[in-house]
Amino acid sequence: MRICVCVSGGGTNLQAIFDAIDAGRIPGAEIVRVISNNPGAFALERAKNRGIEAVCISPKTFPDREAFNEALLQGLKDCKPELIVLAGFLVNVPVCVIREFKNRIINIHPSLIPSFCGKGYYGLKVHEGVLARGVKVTGATVHFVDEGIDTGKIIAQKAVCVEDGDTPEILQKRVMEQAEWIILPETVRKIVAGELQIG
Ligand code: GAR
Repeated sequence: MRICVCVSGGGTNLQAIFDAIDAGRIPGAEIVRVISNNPGAFALERAKNRGIEAVCISPKTFPDREAFNEALLQGLKDCKPELIVLAGFLVNVPVCVIREFKNRIINIHPSLIPSFCGKGYYGLKVHEGVLARGVKVTGATVHFVDEGIDTGKIIAQKAVCVEDGDTPEILQKRVMEQAEWIILPETVRKIVAGELQIG
């Protein structure tokens, strides 16, 4: 299955997918392209180091959002993906992309949706929100992407405990280690293996 992964930052979730492929845990998966909106994303280096095409499509290089959206759509279409994985892609995916790849886009979110998701909740901000509210359990969610923000059908969730003395950074790392890096590759495996009803 041809897979395109979209990223914005460090790319540890991308790395978790690479590691699962290397360990033989996702037979049939081929990552054909990694796209980032951020030219400085270390995730692009991770892709290049494996000989995978790494493409930056930055909104800053386009006159307006419409032109960026079109370029993103084209950048995705060009690599003919059967699955698109948003692995820390901190961009609102345009409707034209969602319609073109209906039920073929999945996203990892670092909370138990429907808590701490939607507008303004991304990256570290999610964990800041969790700590400010004082909940004792958080986690991560993999879901299909629809036209809303974090509203698509939920595929997988894993809970993680919040501990006394947590900072947003410490909590982020625990959620990644105990949830994200497990449920994202496992979901990709299920989709590639045809074990998951799409959509
Ligand atoms: C991850 O925690 C991911 O769940 C989150 O961004 C981080 C990216 O880390 N995504 C979102 O917040 C999406 N709304 P990474 O680049 O090391 O994988």
